[in-house]
Amino acid sequence: MKSVRIKDKNFKLSITESEILEKVKNVANKINKDLEGENPVFLSVLNGAFMFTSDLMKYVNIPSEISFIRLSSYCGTESTGCVRSLMGLTTDIKGRTVVIVEDIVDTGLTMLKLLDILNQYEPKEIKICTLLLKPDKLKVDLNIDYVAMSIPNDFIVGYGLDYDEYGRNLPEIYTVE
Ligand code: IMP
Repeated sequence: MKSVRIKDKNFKLSITESEILEKVKNVANKINKDLEGENPVFLSVLNGAFMFTSDLMKYVNIPSEISFIRLSSYCGTESTGCVRSLMGLTTDIKGRTVVIVEDIVDTGLTMLKLLDILNQYEPKEIKICTLLLKPDKLKVDLNIDYVAMSIPNDFIVGYGLDYDEYGRNLPEIYTVE
């Protein structure tokens, strides 16, 4: 089984690149159907969602805009719940259908904060699209419209997700050993 070492930790391969791409395509197809005629704005949450967004948007074929925002709540391997403010929202989302593109929803606190901030800009509707969900860690009530994959509680890296800023470039997803 393929494994990688990042800093002080070993990680083993858990989701292959082809499996990920298959799931990403499924989500894109669903979005294409659901949001046809909506002219949505995709808001990709940096840094973690950069690879997911890039692959997802290759399969989204409805007219849409993409913008990149930043809102971080995470340091090391434990979710802190402490959130910083939103940066980089340059598109006017008033009256628009917004799709938040996230790498992972863990406790859900980051997403809740983001929804709270974005709602102040009076969008028509906000959809949540996440590559990964850890259902057993979810602490808040969230209506997540699109989930590519649900995973166990273990810490993971790769495909945009980091361990202390490393490992984002891995094309597959690895789980800590
Ligand atoms: P939440 O606020 O607890 O939902 O945390 C969301 C953020 O924590 C994500 O956007 C990720 O940046 C980070 N995160 C949560 N779980 C993991 C993981 O297993 N690996 C890497 N980052 C994670």
